[in-house]
Parts: sequence; structure tokens; C-alpha cells
Amino acid sequence: YHVEMDDSDSEKGAYPFYMLKEIDEQPAVMRRLLSEYVENEETVKIDDHILNAMKAADRLYIVAAGTSYHAGLVGKELFESLANVPTEVHVASEFGYHMPLLSEKPFFIFLSQSGETADSRQVLVKVNEMMYPSLTITNSANSTLSREATYTLLLHAGPEIAVASTKAYTAQIAVEALLAKALGTVTGQAKAIDYDVYHELTAVANAMQAMVDEKESINDLAKEFLSETRNAFYIGRGIDYDVSIEAALKLKEVSYVQTEGFASGELKHGTIALIEEGTPVVAIITDAPTASHTRGNVQEVLARGANTITISTESLANEGDQIVLPDVSDLLTPLVSIVPAQLLAYYTSLNRGYDVDKPRNLAKSVTVE
Ligand code: AGP
Repeated sequence: YHVEMDDSDSEKGAYPFYMLKEIDEQPAVMRRLLSEYVENEETVKIDDHILNAMKAADRLYIVAAGTSYHAGLVGKELFESLANVPTEVHVASEFGYHMPLLSEKPFFIFLSQSGETADSRQVLVKVNEMMYPSLTITNSANSTLSREATYTLLLHAGPEIAVASTKAYTAQIAVEALLAKALGTVTGQAKAIDYDVYHELTAVANAMQAMVDEKESINDLAKEFLSETRNAFYIGRGIDYDVSIEAALKLKEVSYVQTEGFASGELKHGTIALIEEGTPVVAIITDAPTASHTRGNVQEVLARGANTITISTESLANEGDQIVLPDVSDLLTPLVSIVPAQLLAYYTSLNRGYDVDKPRNLAKSVTVE
């Protein structure tokens, strides 16, 4: 039994598929989140009960599935950097059995667009049995995960109809950033106190807009690099590796191209054996400390015949990088670097004639284990 959203065409408007409409909506969702969660340029409005419960915890456990799990990977960077709190991220279906807790005072965060994912719900049942506090961050008010958690924060992203999650992923990361800023502020973390999240997320919304306006050139890249291939790689380091994993899932689930998101420093330990003439490899380079190393990995795969696309930021761009993102806060580059990857997936699927919104064998919400 799967929850199918109603897909009355009237909501699609001029769009051929919901996925493209939802990619386009991402800048507006950022601005909507600012109006919902940021009172003035410094103060983030998060219920004090949530912040007090998180303040009392000594370790955060983020639990999610699929794309929401990938948003949790970025959340870990945000909570550890801004709120200085140790954070673990777990795939719900892996975590529920043993739940190895390294903390007497854990706090659980469930990320879920639908709020109905069975794997995540199973874990929340156990968390409730153990009487630990929990927060569900979801796009679906009154969903099971929302009702059964101690607290809820909403994504305000509007209905997400396409099976491939896009605006919910970026909204989850934005809400994690707002929450990390608020938590770090109440626990006196200088980096959080000084972090002007209003300015940073506004810059992200503008940068996202610049990328969604690049549709045609990204479609050209999809046609040139991805139209015939059976496999592909996304590579990156640090936060760019986190995005590579989500970028790979997008391409896999809507175009059926076997794609791996891979830590670029790990390629030489075996996986590079798969690179052959014409293998598409997309490198994501937004992280300054690791940029030169990832560029070295690009040279290694080029030497083995790969066809490479490089996604970089203005301050790190080299001549020949096909996609250059406007600079934004280091912690928030995933919100911008994922947009070309979403579009590459969309156009690859479209150009292959697939039903982009309803990929084979998939459902919008997986409410069975
Ligand atoms: C994402 O593109 C997929 N449709 C899928 O992985 C999804 O993210 C996963 O099933 C989790 O769903 P949820 O966010 O509703 O819990």
C-alpha cells in the first residue's frame, strides 16, 4: 500500500512534470522558510521547548531514509559546526534493530517528507518506548511521524508530488541550518551567534535561482554526457561527498542509470577500476580545503577515459568547469550544488522518454517495511 499523491494536471500548470516544477520552487521555499522561522535578521523562531530538550541532550541522532537520510548527512555537518553537538546520522532500516546508543541523554530527529515512512516509524516506536525526546521535521502536518514524536517542525515546501524528492531535500537542510543556528545560539556557540542565517539563506535562494535559470545548458550537458550511458559517478569530498550521494540517487531513480556517489579520495582504493572510456564522472567541488585533491581525482579518471563534468563555485572555478555556482556560505553549498544534479537527472529521464514523476517500481511514500 503506497500513499499516492493526487496528480490532478491542473496543479502542474505549464510544467510537463511535477519534478521540474518542484525544482523551480526551491528558491521560493527558501524564502518561505525565512518568513516562517526568522523573525528579524538574527532571531530564529524555534519553540523553546524544542531548544530546551535539545540543550539537555549530549548527542543528536538523525534517523531517516533515502533522500531524507542524505539531508541528514548535511545536517550532521550543520549541528556539529554551528551547535558543537556530536551528531550521528542513521538509515532508519539499519538502525532500528540494535540502536547502539552512546549517550544517556540522546535526542532524536526524524527527517521525513511524507511523515509516513515505515522504516522511520518503526524506530520512533522504540524511541517512544525508551521515553527519549524526539523531533520530526516533515512536509506533512498531522502525519504519523509528526503525531507520534514529541515535537514537530514543518518544511512549508508545499505538496511534493514527484516521486523523486527535490524541494523537500533542500527544505530539510535549510530547517536543519535554522535549528542548528538557534541551538548553538542558546548554548553560547560563537559560530552560531555570529552566523547571519537570514543573509546566508537569502544568498542561497538567489544562487538557487541562478541555477534553475541554467536549465537549457544543463539539458545540453545531460544530452552530451548522460543520454546513452548505463553507468555514472558523482564524486566529492566532505560536504561535496554528502551531496554526491544524493545526486546519484536522483539520477538512478528517474533515469535508471547505475550511478554511485563516491568519496573521490577513495577511488584509488579499488573503484577506479570501473572507470573506462566514456564513463561519465561528475565532480562536485565547493569545499575549499579539499578542492585541489578532488581536482587531482578528476585528472586520474580523465586519464582512464572518463567524460567529466565539474560543478564548482565561483571562488574555486577553473577554466573548463561546465557548471559554476555562485558562492554561498560553506555550510550551505549543498543547497545550490544539488540543483544542477537534480536537473541533470530530470533531463536525462525526460530525454529517455520516461515518466519522470512516476519511476518504475517506486512510490512517493514507502509505508511498508
Ligand atoms: C527520494 O527521491 C525517494 N523518493 C525516497 O528515497 C524518499 O526520500 C524516501 O522514501 C524517504 O521518504 P520520506 O522523506 O517521506 O520519509
